Amino acid sequence: MTRPRSEHPVLIVDDEKNIRRALRMVLEGEGLEVSEAATIAEAEAALAGAPHDLVLLDVKLGEGNGIDLLERIKSAPGAERDIPVLMISGHATVDDAVRATRLGAFDFLEKPLDRERVIVSVRNALERRAMGREVATLRAAESGRHEMIGESPVMQELFRQVARIAPTKGRVLVTGESGTGKELIARAIHRTWLQSLGLAELGRRGGEGNVPFVKVNCAAIPPELIESELFGHERGAFTGAVGRKRGLFEIADGGTIFLDEIGDMSLPAQAKVLRVLQQGEIVRVGGEKVLTVDCRVIAATNKNLTEEVAAGRFREDLFFRLNVIPIRAPSLRERPEDIPLLAEAFVRLCCDENGFRPKRISPEVLSRLTRHPWPGNVRELRNVIERLVILADDEISARDLPPYLEAGGPHVRGSAGSPIPGVEAPSLVLDPRRYLSLTLREFRDQVEREFLRLKLEQNQWNVSRTAQELEIERTNLHKRLRALGIERE
Ligand SMILES: Nc1ncnc2c1ncn2[C@@H]1O[C@H](COP(=O)(O)OP(=O)(O)OP(=O)(O)O)[C@@H](O)[C@H]1O
Ligand SMILES: [Mg+2]
Repeated sequence: MTRPRSEHPVLIVDDEKNIRRALRMVLEGEGLEVSEAATIAEAEAALAGAPHDLVLLDVKLGEGNGIDLLERIKSAPGAERDIPVLMISGHATVDDAVRATRLGAFDFLEKPLDRERVIVSVRNALERRAMGREVATLRAAESGRHEMIGESPVMQELFRQVARIAPTKGRVLVTGESGTGKELIARAIHRTWLQSLGLAELGRRGGEGNVPFVKVNCAAIPPELIESELFGHERGAFTGAVGRKRGLFEIADGGTIFLDEIGDMSLPAQAKVLRVLQQGEIVRVGGEKVLTVDCRVIAATNKNLTEEVAAGRFREDLFFRLNVIPIRAPSLRERPEDIPLLAEAFVRLCCDENGFRPKRISPEVLSRLTRHPWPGNVRELRNVIERLVILADDEISARDLPPYLEAGGPHVRGSAGSPIPGVEAPSLVLDPRRYLSLTLREFRDQVEREFLRLKLEQNQWNVSRTAQELEIERTNLHKRLRALGIERE
């Protein structure tokens, strides 16, 4: 049998000195640290004074009743209520046992105590405790990942909006450029809504971890599969439908369904989604039974749905159904004051994830990051930071920045004459992902454009000297500049 382990002492609460002594011997024999209390008051003082991993609690405590103390522990506001409690009783009535179990006692031990039975129960309780701690850590890490960062007025307004609308079950349409955090907003609404539910309501739904948040990437599901993905199918509904499958709406029942990239959904699929939103009912493909589903719908898109409606690519009736509460995720350009905050948070996160010592980020880098227009918004910023963290030494300095940040960005003219970093600047193609959507021709042009612009800036736009350094004809360089659309600002 493995020995029980704990970080904090086990508290023994019993008014009989002999019992306390006997239990202490058993537990210390197992290598556990022990503290004692003879009365409810002493026990409460001990619990308030130091963290404990387990409580062994006698039911009859002189004047007091151990079950009352159990009740107080289990309804404590802080972490105290997660401490497992083993009840001990000399002449337990069934009522006591039932009440203690209802209140959340971990186990009920009867006197005379059997040594083995005590050890097994203590070990189980401590294991559960350790597991609970792990879950809490994971959950904290998880919520950290979904944490929205921002102190700018636009973000504060956004937080207020989320807090206001989350407790309602109203449908939300989140719009905004790519990488602005639309998914993060959807998750924050779901989380805030959960927090607004009473404990009883949460319990009815099986606890916080069991209320579903189902993300559907509407752009990624082929049109011919969307119906069976969303609504499920019965066995044999079509070739390949081997078994019965639950649809995403069904899985989201009682929680939230997040229809991401809704602007990319085909018109036939839109018609089907409209039907669910109108009737709150679904029928599995190949099935007959009508199932009612109750889930909150949050949709998101980086398209302008009003334009899509005007162009006949998006159903107007669906747009109105989805757009009950509109939320706009602001671009990073609208809140440059948040950039240092975000950058530093991403540095911390990335160092953590990679097991690096915390790295610093120089003020100059922060100021350059703040001036960049970030067409890819927070996602782009995060990618850039992750690369910097991996490449840089303990301090991320201006030298580590990719050239397009030095020069003010490939899409934006400006900052001519900024100091050019040493030739050892790592590579022009620092983030190949930036280029993945391009053809080879576009890629070459893009890289050549960035390179020539830098070269020209280095030479104060002296074309002859630049041509010389590049070892090409001056007329040739002029031709390339025209072809690539490079002009002096
Ligand atoms: N306010 C914010 N604070 C911290 N991180 C953020 C914030 N906004 C976005 N991010 C991060 O940026 C990345 C992109 O966010 P998200 O996926 O939510 O964007 P999106 O708007 O859904 O983008 P797309 O339209 O491309 O799907 C994620 O890694 C997310 O964690
Ligand atoms: Mg998204």
